[in-house]
Amino acid sequence: MKRTKINLLLKLETTPGKVLVKGWVRTKRDSKKFSFMEINDGSCLKNIQVIANDDLENYPDIQTITTGTSVSVTGKLSASPGKGQKWEIQADQIEIINIAPESYPLQKKRHTDEFLRTIAHLRPRTNKYGAAFRLRSEMAFAIHKFYREKGFRYLTTPLITGSDCEGAGEMFRVTSLDPKMIEQQGKMDFKTDFFGRESSLTVSGQLSAEMFALALGDVYTFGPTFRAENSNTSRHAAEFWMLEPEMAFCDLKQNMDNAEELVKTLVRHAMDECPEDMALFSNFVDKSLPKRMDILLNTEFARVSYTQAIDILKHSKKTFDFKVDYGTDLQSEHERYLAEQYFKKPVFLTDYPKQIKPFYMRMNEDGKTVAAVDLLVPRIGELIGGSQREERLEVLEKRMKEMGLPMENYWWYLDSRKFGSVPHSGFGMGFERFLMMLTGISNIRDVIPFPRTPGSIDF
Ligand code: 4AD
Ligand code: MG
Repeated sequence: MKRTKINLLLKLETTPGKVLVKGWVRTKRDSKKFSFMEINDGSCLKNIQVIANDDLENYPDIQTITTGTSVSVTGKLSASPGKGQKWEIQADQIEIINIAPESYPLQKKRHTDEFLRTIAHLRPRTNKYGAAFRLRSEMAFAIHKFYREKGFRYLTTPLITGSDCEGAGEMFRVTSLDPKMIEQQGKMDFKTDFFGRESSLTVSGQLSAEMFALALGDVYTFGPTFRAENSNTSRHAAEFWMLEPEMAFCDLKQNMDNAEELVKTLVRHAMDECPEDMALFSNFVDKSLPKRMDILLNTEFARVSYTQAIDILKHSKKTFDFKVDYGTDLQSEHERYLAEQYFKKPVFLTDYPKQIKPFYMRMNEDGKTVAAVDLLVPRIGELIGGSQREERLEVLEKRMKEMGLPMENYWWYLDSRKFGSVPHSGFGMGFERFLMMLTGISNIRDVIPFPRTPGSIDF
């Protein structure tokens, strides 16, 4: 007999008669003549109730079943008299696959997120984390769907790289040099290293994506990126996933239009395709979620310049921990004030001072600001960072020299500005930050299967 997953089973309108279900026992209660079990197989939030009669030949064994035990159940699917459930299974056979002893940490009670992080290998078996990771899967698909329908090509870009895209020097080194040899020689001789020079894990696929946008038109990369910034915050991970679309013949405004449409489409997709999992988050994680989703879907995002934002912050009556000053980067408290209290919705900030942005952003007419854009959203702060790219060779070269970049590493990047250069733009959206926004989960560690943060590499 073929196994049916519980999500499909619960959608049935009429009973097919006999069914086979496999999963893990969430709870069990015994009465004199019956055992009731709630089985979950991860296909959806809901469990299916299984009723075992004492005439089953292994009934004594069935009585030993504990929370977390894996089972295989065959029986008749019948209408359930119980409240809130359409179907239940009258078992005619229950095979115990593997008993979970009393030491199974996920007993039926509420566990803190902090505790669950210490058992990250088991936490997807809880309602909340199951929902979070089903949503994560569905949202990855929705990203591909959105861009495919817009005629973008999906590009996979290298994870090992010889250039620092963001220029922030926050890279993890990649080497095959023997630590013993390094100690003997007193230095790392990169010439003898695997690639013959310094190499790192990538912080962004953008530079590669630009090359392909200038060939295929519209592309996007979606993959892991790595940052060795030692900021132990609830919004930073050392390994995170980034979506990076890159569009030829596209200016900053069109770039923002694409970002806004993307965010709205993904939120709509989550609400249409994952209503149960989304409901869990509004009921148990963040009661304001429906209202926030409504704002995301139904209001136009604000668009102001960095200079205007500094003005707003300076005129606010709020006292910030960090001083607001033109020419410095906004702190998370500033970003959140703008999105949460001033605009009360997502806001694009554009045209930042050049000294706080990377080399590749297009210089504005004023010679002081660049065509940068950050999307700030309530509760998260920066969700997206992007720009129109500097397509003019001389301007780009001048900027790179000013910033002291090793030009020889970027010869191929500069080539793109020599041969048929065109205005182009793109942005990066942190996938985990998006999931935090969508679920109300407030720590990035809880939307990544196995988070990598400073001092933490278990699992
Ligand atoms: O603003 P960032 O640094 O932009 C870039 O890397 C550009 N090359 C993107 C592009 O234009 N193609 O990063 C983009 C986004 C941020 O807005 C944030 O959402 C996320 O990536 N991000 C992080 N997410 C989790 N942990 C970190 N340490 C992150 N650093 C950035
Ligand atoms: Mg940024």
